[in-house]
Amino acid sequence: MRERERRLTLWPADFPVADLRRFELFAELLVAQFPAAQRVYDVAGGMGKLNAELTARGREVTTFDTRWKRGEVTLAEPCVCDLVVGMHPDGATRIIVEYAAHHGVPAAVVPCCADNGMSYKPWMRHLAELGTQLGLDVEEVELSMRGRARVLLLRPRRQRTMGASATA
Ligand SMILES: C[S@@+](CC[C@H](N)C(=O)[O-])C[C@H]1O[C@@H](n2cnc3c(N)ncnc32)[C@H](O)[C@@H]1O
Repeated sequence: MRERERRLTLWPADFPVADLRRFELFAELLVAQFPAAQRVYDVAGGMGKLNAELTARGREVTTFDTRWKRGEVTLAEPCVCDLVVGMHPDGATRIIVEYAAHHGVPAAVVPCCADNGMSYKPWMRHLAELGTQLGLDVEEVELSMRGRARVLLLRPRRQRTMGASATA
């Protein structure tokens, strides 16, 4: 067996390598969970692959990533969206939760690395607790993929007036 094939065979199911299907799987989940969310902010969107998958499903997507001109999202970013999402957003994970709570929009995030040195499970618990403290209902689901696949679905307990139907 060639070296690469041998390594693939030896990978455990939860090996923390990002799965190439992650964008398609996440986009499908988002469309199913938030069918009325038309305008989406994709935070830490990297090369724009999630943007492409959501655009192909009829969504209007704005991608933010520090590697591009439209980079870091802060709470001051005007909220012209119905949903905020992030796939493995590294240092932008926490701001997704805070932004959703601050602006009263739903969010969905697939956390990966922590910004405070926590390992994966405590980091997931920490983010869920943060969301709850900030007034979001938190649900966890899992994408059917290799690597870090747990998704936090965050919905404001008190919807803002505009875009309130986005979580229908
Ligand atoms: C692990 S990559 C994931 C990229 C893409 N979502 C994916 O799944 O392939 C993390 C990305 O987060 C971006 N990033 C890190 N901190 C950020 C921040 N504070 N604001 C915006 N983007 C950030 C990095 O530039 C990088 O593209």
